[in-house]
Amino acid sequence: MERTYIMTKPDAYKRGLIGEIITRIENKGYNITDMKMMNLDEAILKEHYAHLADKPFFPEIVEYMTSGPVVGMIVQGDNVVAGMRSIMGPTDGLEAPAGTIRGDYAKDKSENLVHGSDSVENAEIEIKRFFG
Ligand code: CDP
Ligand code: MG
Repeated sequence: MERTYIMTKPDAYKRGLIGEIITRIENKGYNITDMKMMNLDEAILKEHYAHLADKPFFPEIVEYMTSGPVVGMIVQGDNVVAGMRSIMGPTDGLEAPAGTIRGDYAKDKSENLVHGSDSVENAEIEIKRFFG
């Protein structure tokens, strides 16, 4: 069964939207098989966001992602990697369609509430990174 790594971000914690995100995952029919709340540090963010580490806005990502707890989850289901990206919506909350998590709750492309792996291969790497 396919798996993906989903992580609510600190804005979801601050705004009380962790439950809403979990509900949407469950309503879609996926199974959450593991879950933990964590506080991330810069070192793990440099690894997790390696594709962005040399961008000028990377320090802002670190500030945002260390501003409160995240909830990491392993989510399982048929085609769950693409399916979760679909219910999350695109990165930028302004462009994300209504009905998606980001489209309904995020206003821009930085504080967008939730992370989801972008490929089956990266899902397994990210699950190992956060769950060992
Ligand atoms: O999260 P997603 O896979 O949709 O996008 P990404 O391109 O992998 O970027 C990871 C995260 O970095 C985004 O979800 C945003 O929180 C942040 N980001 C940002 O703040 N500004 C950008 N121009 C691009 C990404
Ligand atoms: Mg990404």
